[in-house]
Amino acid sequence: MAIHSGAPRRATLDDAERPKLDQLRQALAPLRDEPGTTLEALYAAQDIFSYVPPEAVTLIAKELRLPESEVFGVLTFYSMFHRKPAAAYVLRVCRDLSCHLTGAPQVLHAFNQALGARVGEVTEDGLFETESVSCLGLCDLQPALMVNLEQHGPMTADKARALLDDLRARGAR
Ligand code: FES
Repeated sequence: MAIHSGAPRRATLDDAERPKLDQLRQALAPLRDEPGTTLEALYAAQDIFSYVPPEAVTLIAKELRLPESEVFGVLTFYSMFHRKPAAAYVLRVCRDLSCHLTGAPQVLHAFNQALGARVGEVTEDGLFETESVSCLGLCDLQPALMVNLEQHGPMTADKARALLDDLRARGAR
């Protein structure tokens, strides 16, 4: 059964990106006969595309001999996977209770004000996107956030603005 029921299925890959499917197929080869490698396969897809397009889900399902719905379920369960091209820096702010009570809303507000963008929107320069996510496992750093795979905390609104300056100075990856 198609996994994208409820919305018309759209191909998101342009011609320039299609060769990356072969790259993904090669990356999946060692995983084919290994059970429980869906996460690894999705990481491989995200490494190659910077997000996980529907075509990658289809390919992973085919190569790992899994239902597409299962691969899609894993993809949507974990917040570290993107289903659309991601910004260079994804700022994931924990919204769970402990972080909320210690200032996460102010941190998120500072980001969104400084960037002129709402949660989930990529800034026009393609550099930033904020996300409000569940516990990052960094409760000792509350309020905590991650910039891609980089851990930050405890954060304040001032530190959030300084972090943006630092990331801008680094430029696009
Ligand atoms: S509650 Fe925020 S990182 Fe765990």
